[in-house]
Formats: sequence, C-alpha cells, structure tokens
Amino acid sequence: MKKVCMVGTGYVGLVSGACFAHLGHTVICVDNNAARIENLKKGIMPIYEKDLKEMVEACVKKENISFTTDLCGAVEKSEIIFITVGTPSDKKTGDADLSFVFAVAADIAKHMKDEYKVIVLKSTVPVGTAEAVEDIIKKAKPAAKFSVVSNPEFLREGFAVSDFLNPDRIVVGANDAKPLSVMRELYKPLTDKGFALLTTNTTTANMIKYASNSFLAMKIMFINEISDMCEKAGADVTDVAKGVGLDSRIGHKFLNPGPGYGGSCFPKDTMALERMAKKFDSPLKLVETTIAENNARRFKMLSKISNALGGNMRGKRLAVLGVTFKAETDDMRDSPSIGILSELHLNGAALDIYDPQGKKHGPEFFPYAKFHDSAAEALSGADAALVLTEWPEFNKITAAEYKKLLKTPLVIDLRNMYKLEDMKGVVYHSLGRKTVK
Ligand code: UDX
Repeated sequence: MKKVCMVGTGYVGLVSGACFAHLGHTVICVDNNAARIENLKKGIMPIYEKDLKEMVEACVKKENISFTTDLCGAVEKSEIIFITVGTPSDKKTGDADLSFVFAVAADIAKHMKDEYKVIVLKSTVPVGTAEAVEDIIKKAKPAAKFSVVSNPEFLREGFAVSDFLNPDRIVVGANDAKPLSVMRELYKPLTDKGFALLTTNTTTANMIKYASNSFLAMKIMFINEISDMCEKAGADVTDVAKGVGLDSRIGHKFLNPGPGYGGSCFPKDTMALERMAKKFDSPLKLVETTIAENNARRFKMLSKISNALGGNMRGKRLAVLGVTFKAETDDMRDSPSIGILSELHLNGAALDIYDPQGKKHGPEFFPYAKFHDSAAEALSGADAALVLTEWPEFNKITAAEYKKLLKTPLVIDLRNMYKLEDMKGVVYHSLGRKTVK
C-alpha cells in the first residue's frame, strides 16, 4: 500500500484522501487552514457530502488517515503528493487562476529531499500546468527526483464518494513511464475490480477533463433550448428527452431541463477551456455559445416567472423551494438561484426560502430573504411557489398540499419535479411542457 499526502482539504482533496485511505493506503491530509484541520481532527467536516463523515471516522479508527498543517513532515513521509487546491476563475479574464497550485508546488519543493516523489495534479488545470509545476520544482530544488502527473477528478458533488469508488474511468497523464507504475499501484484496488485506467500524456489528461465537463454543460444547454421550443411547439420535453436518450449513442443522463448549470466546475471549466482555446487560436464556438446561453438562461427564467405571475412581481410573496445549485449539496457556488432571486428582489417580490441545506450559506447570498425550517412554513400564505432545486423531499409535496398552503394555487417549477397529471387543482408551470390549470 502507498503513502499518500493530499495538499488541500477542500472538496476534491478531502474526498479523494478519505477514499484512498478507505482503499487501504496511508493518507496525510494537509491544509494551511489551522481551524479546518482542528475541526477535521474532531470529526467536523468542512463540507456536506454523503458518506464522507462516516468514511473519515472509520479511517481515523484504522489510523490510515491523519490531518495536519505540517507540510514538511507530510512531504517527507509520502511517496505520492497530490495537489488538490482550488483553481478559481480569474475574475477579470476567466482564465483558471493557478496561483494556489504554483504556491503549493514551491512549498513542496522546499521540503523535498533525496527520495523520488510523484507530484499529482488533481485540481482541474489548463494544458501546460504540469510542465510549469515541473519547472517550479526544478528551479527550487535542481537535484530533486520527481515526476509530475495529471490525474483529473470526475466527482459529482453529492455522489463524490460513490463516484470515486465506482469511476467510469481513471485518467492518469504522465510524460514519462516512471510514475505510471506508482499510480497503477495506487489505483490497484479499483482496477482489480475492473474499473478502467487510461494513461495518456499530461496535456491529453487535461483536455479529457475540460472536454468532458464542457460536453456535459453543452448537453444540458441543448436540452434547455429544446425545452423552450417544446413549450412553444406544444411538445413534451420529458418524453422528448426519453425518446432521445434511448438512443444509446446519446444516453438519458444530463437531459433534464433546468434553470441553467451552476456549481464549482461547469461554469469555471467551460470558461477556462474557452480562454485556452482562443490562446491556441482554435476557438470553440459550441462552448462559447453554451456559456452565453447559460448566462442568458437566468433572464429567460425570470421572464417565465414574471409571466406566470401576470407580469407584476411587486408586492408578491414567493415561497422559494431550493437555492443550492443542485440537490444533495450545501454548495451555493454559481447557483442559478443567485441571479434569479436577486432580480426578483429588485423587482419588488418578497422571498421566503426553504432549502434542506441552504440555510448554512444561503443567508449571505440572500440577505433580503427570509429563511424557513420547512417547505410548509415557507409555502404558508405565499402568492406562489417557485421550485429552483430538485431536492427529493419536494417531490412529496402534493397538489392538494400546495393548494392548502398557498394563498393562490400557483406553482412555478424550474426542475420539472412533478408529473402533469398529479398537479391538477393548481396552476402549474414547468419547463418544456404545457401549463396545467
Ligand atoms: C460536475 C461533473 O459532473 C463532475 O464530473 C465534475 O468533475 C465536477 O463538475 P457537479 O458540479 O457536482 O459535477 O454537478 P453535476 O451533477 O454535474 O451538475 C452540474 C450542474 O448542471 C448543476 O447545476 C445541475 O443542476 C445542472 N444539470 C445537471 C442540469 O441542469 N440538468 C441535468 O440534466 C444535469
């Protein structure tokens, strides 16, 4: 089994660290945020992710995961060092901001001694980053023996643990053969179960990650456009998606219309790929359009809401169900709800929000709204319900309950949570389907 160090205990670092430990490796998780490390030692997770807490607790008991702020000790003890710090979008340019990755690389170099180390980039990084990290380490420690590997993650929030342990594929990009045997041993518990490991060079590995996320973002925006057309043409987008998805070349996943994609990956990665492509003088028109349409989506949703409310939002009280960018997460990053609700507020609507996890970060995004502890509380006496996130518990709310709780029986559902035939008795607006009255 391998000795592994994860630098950065954010989403990717913590989930990957816990999963490697679960697979039997010895993992040291390092972060320069001392409060976060202290919390992790006490079993307090910085994020909400299904099964993560239980997995970390079990690995702590078995003593194959530990948490520290001491990078030096962690680097010395580990053969494989993962860089799992953030690569946010540069606010001005949209490029991936690599300053955290480079700073960590320089820090790691300081603590490298004679043993060979594999430095792994797991954060989503543009083409050329592995080479840049190699240069940083070489400059700081010319005698250091190491290889830099690109090993992108494909973890969905809410399913990250399960995605890690049941991957569609593991991608390892390296520019020489030496680190590949180390990485194969690291992933052996998964490849032994039959999961595929694809080896490429580092540039190709980076491209696989960006192309995958951009393709999925494009697929979502495609069904959103088809949904808009269905609404006008009188077709039903649920059946269209079913019929299209049955074609095995297309597949049924990621064909759910919604208020646009959000989260920590798709908006950032599509933008970074667009920028990168321009630098290579190879513009990606489909990705450019996907980004533009996703930005415009929020305004389309706003006019849908406004029309449903009879063109006037002033003085209307809306019960908002869900604000996180998707269900099963407390993450608010780039959530479509941010743009939609701020416009509703500016147009004079009063907002009563319920989200099973949104209370943690929600209030900082929506200081003007009131947060409630249950859907029933938010719905009570409101002029309309607005469903923004597909939390499974919203599925259980019946038309009769909406009718009983709302002042006027109007439901605007931007996630197509309900079957049309189940919504008789309320005015029900959804995406790409006829309005039920
Ligand atoms: C994504 C990728 O799926 C994962 O492989 C990657 O490495 C990280 O980014 P995540 O951001 O957790 O994962 O969310 P995902 O489930 O992919 O959804 C992204 C966005 O698309 C959400 O806003 C979601 O609501 C939206 N979406 C997704 C739709 O609107 N319709 C769909 O059919 C699917």
